[in-house]
Amino acid sequence: MVPTMTSPSGITNFVINNGNGVKGLSEMGLKSLPKQYIQPLEERISTASFGIKNSEETVPIIDMSNWDDPKVAEAICSAAEKWGFFQLVNHGVPVEVLENVKEATHRFFELPAEEKSKNSKERSCSNNVRFGTSFSPQAEKALEWKDYLSLFYVSEDEASALWPPACKDEVLEYMKKSEILIKRLLEMLMKRLNVKEIDQEKEGLLMGSMRINLNYYPICPNPELTVGVGRHSDVSTLTVLLQDQIGGLYVRGGTDKKTWIHVPPVKGSLVINIGDALQIMSNGRYKSIEHRVAANGSKNRISVPIFVNPRPSDLISPLPEVLASGEKAVYKQVLYSDYVKHFFRKAHDGKSTIEFAKI
Ligand code: OGA
Ligand code: NI
Repeated sequence: MVPTMTSPSGITNFVINNGNGVKGLSEMGLKSLPKQYIQPLEERISTASFGIKNSEETVPIIDMSNWDDPKVAEAICSAAEKWGFFQLVNHGVPVEVLENVKEATHRFFELPAEEKSKNSKERSCSNNVRFGTSFSPQAEKALEWKDYLSLFYVSEDEASALWPPACKDEVLEYMKKSEILIKRLLEMLMKRLNVKEIDQEKEGLLMGSMRINLNYYPICPNPELTVGVGRHSDVSTLTVLLQDQIGGLYVRGGTDKKTWIHVPPVKGSLVINIGDALQIMSNGRYKSIEHRVAANGSKNRISVPIFVNPRPSDLISPLPEVLASGEKAVYKQVLYSDYVKHFFRKAHDGKSTIEFAKI
């Protein structure tokens, strides 16, 4: 196998086509990063020069113990407006459920390549289960140092039948136990937009479909030359992200809105971020913030985001309640599945996906 790895197509074949992923590459003990992964200078993350500049400039950490205290809703809505990102502690999702899904993520990625690649685009028996690497390798000039398993939830029965046994129970439990939290967050966020009640129709629009990704960022030989995930904003309504204790997630923030700010791992916490769909529905009030992930030279990192989305068949646009006071719409109506297709057709490119919906 090693001789074929010296050619560029050998690498692509090994990583992408044979299902070894970057984890396979990492475990071969490469001394230097293959050139396919070298990012242009402006995309590289020199972790030494980033970080929190002062104590004011950090993603808020919000305690949800008294979730029905109006101060909690105030903190959450303000964070969604100013930062688009916040961390929650005492959020009600049991720590054990979070530990179990992290363990299950490691268990899945520890499987032999042959086993994992049964879930690849070419071999998976369903579009709703997808094992892959990088973001959209066909569209990218430089690849990203990440493998993933992406699971689109349709029903409990389908998940039980099709999701990989190594992780399905734990992922389902994580999703189910997060649902109360997701509903509470959406209720708070909607109230500030003058949406009094989330009826069935609104619930479908805000959280009618869910996608869970299991992300694996293996040890990288030259982390300063590449990225784990390039600059992007999520296309979700909101994202619930579980990260381990390694660190490496950076978001745009600070007073200049340009500084890359680290989201430090906090034990037992969940990171929440607003996605493009909610930026559009709130007519820009809530911010879907650009973020990215650094590669790591000494540790394998995992993360498990739940993307809470509209249904593919939903038309999304600024909510009538938001425009009721005469505010002018800055986004037009788009079919959610068209929006998502647009996102996946290109490489990660920062905040530009949302241009698709601008008037
Ligand atoms: C994502 C993402 C961040 C992380 O999957 O969209 O931004 O920490 N992940 O893995
Ligand atoms: Ni993201």
